[in-house]
Amino acid sequence: MTTSTLAKWMLQSNSTVILTGAGMSTESGIPDFRSRTGWWKNIDPRTVASVESLQQNYELFREFYQMRILSLTNCEPHSGHEILANWEARGLLTLIATQNVDRFHQQAGNGAVAELHGNIVTIRCQTCGKALPLGHFMDNAVCTYCNGKLRPNVVLFGEALPQQAWNRSLHAIQNADVVIVIGTSLEVYPVNQLPAMCQGRLVYINLDVSGNSRNFDLILQGTAGGVLAEIDKYLRELIAE
Ligand code: APR
Repeated sequence: MTTSTLAKWMLQSNSTVILTGAGMSTESGIPDFRSRTGWWKNIDPRTVASVESLQQNYELFREFYQMRILSLTNCEPHSGHEILANWEARGLLTLIATQNVDRFHQQAGNGAVAELHGNIVTIRCQTCGKALPLGHFMDNAVCTYCNGKLRPNVVLFGEALPQQAWNRSLHAIQNADVVIVIGTSLEVYPVNQLPAMCQGRLVYINLDVSGNSRNFDLILQGTAGGVLAEIDKYLRELIAE
């Protein structure tokens, strides 16, 4: 079974849902977390991406997210993101549930996106919860309403996931005919529980396929951009027939 199998499944599917992780954005130049070149190879996430780091090590926390936000300005969605936007436009995709915080799926044109881990491009006050412009966070400002600490709307380790994004993703995956998991190690709870909720066909597209122990119906090893291009080629051929 190969990419042409998946193309056939997608055309027979009444609802296809995609779950993405950091591996979806590495071809845009954004590091993932647990690969050899990932963020967590050199940094302990508890020191920069947890509620404790926000409370007890705010300068380091803020510096880490300012650096990640700045790195986004030199990157953009790649062809794989564009293909997923085209699939939504052609009615081939119901939802993208993403762990990514770069908003590249939306930038590429996808409208149906559930941000399971929030995003790093919008800011709120940790104390009063009010929204503040990104520039205030980048300029080390405090909350203009209450002088509280500013932080991105990313889900930190130790925080609950946004209920609406979770419910929407869970419902879509439970009712999908096909679920395609792309570019994630599936090491982080609770998102790593979502693939097992799929009652239909479950597909894994990833560079490293050694770590997974889930019962995927189809495993396609490779880059997100490369594999998605192949699937799209078969989809176009099948639709043209
Ligand atoms: N194409 C396909 N797969 C890729 C590519 C690529 N171009 N680049 C990397 N990968 C794969 C890696 O082999 C790895 O298995 O993507 C996976 C990325 O896994 P992680 O780095 O663990 O990222 P992710 O699964 O998204 O992490 C989940 O952990 O730190 C938290 O909140 C953070 O959302 C993140 C969560």
